[in-house]
Amino acid sequence: MKKLLITGGAGFIGSHVVRLFVNNYPDYHIYNLDVLTYAGNLENLKDIENKSNYTFIKADITDEALMSELFEKHQFDSVIHLAAESHVDRSISDPLAFIKTNILGTVNLLNAARNSWKNQMEGKLFYHISTDEVYGSLGAEGLFTETTAYDPRSPYSSSKASSDHLVRAYFHTYGMPVVISNCSNNYGPNQFPEKLIPLSINNIKNNKPIPIYGKGENVRDWLYVIDHASAIDKIFHEGTNGETYNIGGINEWTNIDLIHKLCEVMDEQLGREKGESAKLITFVKDRAGHDMRYAIDSSKLMNELGWKPSLQFEEGIVKTVEWYLSNSDWSDNIMSGDYEKYYEQQYEKR
Ligand code: NAD
Ligand code: DAU
Repeated sequence: MKKLLITGGAGFIGSHVVRLFVNNYPDYHIYNLDVLTYAGNLENLKDIENKSNYTFIKADITDEALMSELFEKHQFDSVIHLAAESHVDRSISDPLAFIKTNILGTVNLLNAARNSWKNQMEGKLFYHISTDEVYGSLGAEGLFTETTAYDPRSPYSSSKASSDHLVRAYFHTYGMPVVISNCSNNYGPNQFPEKLIPLSINNIKNNKPIPIYGKGENVRDWLYVIDHASAIDKIFHEGTNGETYNIGGINEWTNIDLIHKLCEVMDEQLGREKGESAKLITFVKDRAGHDMRYAIDSSKLMNELGWKPSLQFEEGIVKTVEWYLSNSDWSDNIMSGDYEKYYEQQYEKR
């Protein structure tokens, strides 16, 4: 039985990846390693927690000794590494947390894997999940390709860029089998409501202002999270050792247009008059160093591995809103205590 370690599996994307692998690959044993930060939530995995091919391990990837111990104990064959601090705004107020988890944590995993696999690298794989933000910021034209030079501009993207470089260094220096993918903005069920879409859904529902940074002209390329999980499945099984694959939604929106679209969907779903939710739009102080545009060229992944996004945005955004409205408990449990403090610090003075 293949022993697959997935890190960060209690988070947004990780939980969809864990579910896909647990359900689709009964001959793999899936170990979900997660320390359960504010962003980790085992509620995300209630439906699969009792499956016989699934084990949860509560552990911190910054704990070097523990990572080695766990590799020795379980003899993992492969790793899909998603655990990270993931929110740009938090990286602006607390960069060190990002350096620790995203850089040191990744090196700890690489070292533990290298040591565990030292006599037999064949059949092993370290798959590192990264972001399009490592490529920097685009103007009105162009797309990020796998050969675009790295130009990270926030503490978050710098820490992710650093971890990507380290993964490649282990491939070149130690012959570690690796693949990396760099994905654009994800949306869908289970995303922590600090990110634009779930934060806006909750604010609209609760008749609170929707905070738009700057003029709302920044552009993001949105991909439904299940399509990211299916790309990860493809790359894990069919990707070429040492290669990088970009993953994107071919779905660019300015923030302001996206929020207007979301407001329309919310009006329909909540039975509000057309235009009512949009009245909550509030322009606030811009994010420091706010990247203007991200857009991904995924033709390598599409042409070489035959992946494509399954959902149009119009459908995905409706599904997402429906999920949040019918899972209010999930959001309510999160949006108390620490979240309130975070929200106040992040938005009160904007
Ligand atoms: P998330 O913040 O929702 O989840 C991160 C998970 O990692 C949480 O469950 C958290 O508890 C866990 N974690 C954090 N620090 C840890 C540590 N020290 N030890 C063990 N576990 C730890 O993040 P997400 O949005 O699901 O992103 C997952 C990965 O995908 C990240 O590597 C991120 O950089 C990358 N990514 C995200 C997006 C996006 O749009 N969200 C896009 C491209 C790439
Ligand atoms: O591109 C991939 C990245 O996408 C991932 O690597 C990150 O983990 C993920 O968080 C996301 O980063 P962004 O910064 O693009 O996502 P966020 O949802 O925070 O913001 C999306 C856009 O909306 C961005 O231009 C900032 C803006 N924004 C965000 C928030 C939270 C607002 O205007 N108001 C807000 O309150």
